[in-house]
Amino acid sequence: MRATITATARYIPERVMTNFDLEKIVDTSDEWIRSRTGIETRHLVKDGEATSAMGTHVARELLEKTATSPEEVDAIIVATVTPDMMFPSTAALIQNAIGASKAWGFDLSGACSGFLYALDTGARLVESGKYQKVLVIGADTMSSILDFTDRNTCVLFGDGAGGVLLEPTEGDSGILDSILRIDGSGAPYLNMPAGGSLHPASHETVEKRMHYIRQDGKAVFKFAVKGMADISAEILERNGFQGSDLKLYIPHQANKRIIDAAAKRCGLHPDQVLININKYGNTTAGTIPIGMSEASDEGRLEPGDLVLLAAFGAGFTWGSLLLRWDHAK
Ligand code: UT7
Repeated sequence: MRATITATARYIPERVMTNFDLEKIVDTSDEWIRSRTGIETRHLVKDGEATSAMGTHVARELLEKTATSPEEVDAIIVATVTPDMMFPSTAALIQNAIGASKAWGFDLSGACSGFLYALDTGARLVESGKYQKVLVIGADTMSSILDFTDRNTCVLFGDGAGGVLLEPTEGDSGILDSILRIDGSGAPYLNMPAGGSLHPASHETVEKRMHYIRQDGKAVFKFAVKGMADISAEILERNGFQGSDLKLYIPHQANKRIIDAAAKRCGLHPDQVLININKYGNTTAGTIPIGMSEASDEGRLEPGDLVLLAAFGAGFTWGSLLLRWDHAK
């Protein structure tokens, strides 16, 4: 028995911030952002809207599309680095909002690879035979930890959420294989230093702007290009596939240049690669499920199609996951 995706959904907040809007806030330009990253716009939550609200939209749509009642949900896994609060988990808040009275669940912190970690974990729950309906959601409100005085980071990210419903199948479709990795020696290059147990919130941490994301972009770029390209090629090779066997490559959207390098390494044609970084920027755990949901709605995926997902992010974390598309709604 395998786990398969029976529905996809996404939630993109309405408010749009363009590169030209950012030009008015920090010393940057539309030309720099577009040429270095591929980003043109990003969407941001409105006041009072947070990660659980976006995740709840996604969860409701997944249930509606599959005519699933909330009581049928067995588990909720939420990949996020921007939970509404330290605890309780975003999964708990979503559970309550949708009335999933028989579910359990948890948040998972894998940064930009978080959705891949969550999808693989969800697949194992389903394969165990104990759980039949698992909601897997990737959601991040990056605007809540962005320093809009730091041009190195504030232009890169956006808010958004996506998710899938996982169910068992006896057929050929579903999650075929995954490779997941972590290497904490990358921690100094991309992190948010304060707000945890090492540097609890204090006047000093606020004054030193330690509650914002910090990134050594150049160092992360080098690791990301190699990490995402290698792990994408590795999973294809160990399953006996070539790039030409893929219908669609849905990579994490951190930088168009990182995606192009990984796609080139796998020998992919541009038509085989999903790109939406131009519209949403980097939504961290949101990028891959948002991409899957868009591809599905746009008719880019048919049952039986081979799909490769790949990501690289803070930790460092990285991974790839190979799946055969089902009759997903
Ligand atoms: O998803 C999580 C993982 N994160 C990533 O994968 C991100 C990986 N890194 C990147 O995508 C790229 O490194 C960035 C997009 C962050 C930066 O691009 P880059 O080509 O590596 O630029 P750089 O950091 O080498 O900076 C080049 C110049 C610098 O000026 P000097 O020192 O050459 O005078 C920066 O200060 O560009 C400057 N710069 C900017 N200029 C205008 C940095 N940010 C900006 C900006 N607008 N927003």
